Amino acid sequence: MDLTTSYLGLPLCSPVVASASPVSMTLDGVRACADHGAGAVVLYSLFEEEVRAREVADLLLTEAHEHSFGEAQGYFPEAPTVSFGGARPYLRHLERSAAAVDVPVIASLNGSSPGGWTSIAASMESAGAAAIELNIYAVPGDLTVDGRVVEDRHLEILAAVKAAVSVPVAVKLSPFFSAPGAMALALDAAGADGLVLFNRFLQPDVDVEAQRVRPGATLSVPAEARLPRTWIALLHRRVRASLAATTGVESGDDVVAYLLAGADVVMTASALLRHGPAHVGTLVDELSAWLDRKGYASVAAARGVLAVGADVDATAYERAGYVRALRDAQGRYGRLPS
Ligand SMILES: Cc1cc2nc3c(=O)[nH]c(=O)nc-3n(C[C@H](O)[C@H](O)[C@H](O)COP(=O)(O)O)c2cc1C
Repeated sequence: MDLTTSYLGLPLCSPVVASASPVSMTLDGVRACADHGAGAVVLYSLFEEEVRAREVADLLLTEAHEHSFGEAQGYFPEAPTVSFGGARPYLRHLERSAAAVDVPVIASLNGSSPGGWTSIAASMESAGAAAIELNIYAVPGDLTVDGRVVEDRHLEILAAVKAAVSVPVAVKLSPFFSAPGAMALALDAAGADGLVLFNRFLQPDVDVEAQRVRPGATLSVPAEARLPRTWIALLHRRVRASLAATTGVESGDDVVAYLLAGADVVMTASALLRHGPAHVGTLVDELSAWLDRKGYASVAAARGVLAVGADVDATAYERAGYVRALRDAQGRYGRLPS
C-alpha cells in the first residue's frame, strides 16, 4: 500500500503525523512516534512568552554590564529577576530530536502578537527543524479590537516568521473567524506553506461547588472533527498551501474521513496521550486496511474524494446540508411522545 504523501513540500512516508503535545517533550516520545510510522513529528510549542522572557533577560544583562566600571572586574551583574525562558532547552531538544529520527521534525512556535520574538524561528531552523508550525493563539479579549485588526495581526506574524527562515511555515489557525475561508485564502496568498485546521481552544470549566473557574486541558472526542473536516473539504484544491487536519482523531476511520475530505496529513495528539505513541501504528494499520478493503492503491487516490467540488457553490452547499440536517432531526424528534 502506498501511504506516501507530501506536506509543506516535504515527502512523508505516511499521512499520520504526531501533533504538538507533551508526547514530544522527550526524545523517547519523538522516537516512538517515528518508529510506529508517523510521517512527521510536530514538537510541543515554544511560547512567545518564553522567548520574550529570554529577550528581557539578555537586555537586563547587557544593561547591567553597561553600567559597570572597568576597575570592578570582580563584579557580576545581578541575576535577572525574570525566569529564563524555555528557548535554549527547546532548541537543544529540537536538535537532538531532529538528529534521532529519519522523519521531519517540525518546530512549533506559539504566540499572539507581532514582535522581535518571531526571529527565534531562525534558531529553530538552525537546530534542524524541517519546518515551522506557527500557532497563533489569541482570544481577542479587548472588546474594542475588530476582526480586521485580528486578521492583519495573523498576516503580520506570518510575514515576520517567513522572513526569518527558509524552511516552510505552516499556520495553525482558529476556527473563530467570521469567515475562516477568507482568512485561509489570505494566509495562503501571504505565503503560508500549510494550514493546520484547527487550533483547539482550551476552554475553562466551572467547579460549581467551589464556585471557581477550573482551567485545564481536556482530550478531544471524534465528534469534534466535524468542524475542521467541513473546512478542509471546502478548502481542498482552493488553496495552494498544504492542509493538515487536527482534532478528534481516535481511530483509523477518523484518519480516513479527514483524507476523504482532502487533508494532506492528519495529526493526532489526544489519542497518543490516551493510548501512548504506539497508537500511531494502530492508526497507520487501520488506514492501510481500509484503503485495501476499498480498493485504493494509495492515499493519494482516496484524498479529496468527498471534498466540495470546485464547481459547487460552497455557501449554498453548506446551507443545504444544514437545512437537511434540521429537517431530518424534525422528522425524528418531532414525533417523540410528549
Ligand atoms: C495536553 C495537550 C497539550 C498540547 N500542547 C500543544 C502545544 O504545545 N502546541 C500546539 O500547537 N498544540 C498543542 N496541543 C493541541 C494539539 O496539537 C492538537 O491540535 C489538539 O489537541 C487537537 O488534536 P487532538 O484532537 O488530536 O488532540 C495540545 C493538546 C493537548 C491535549
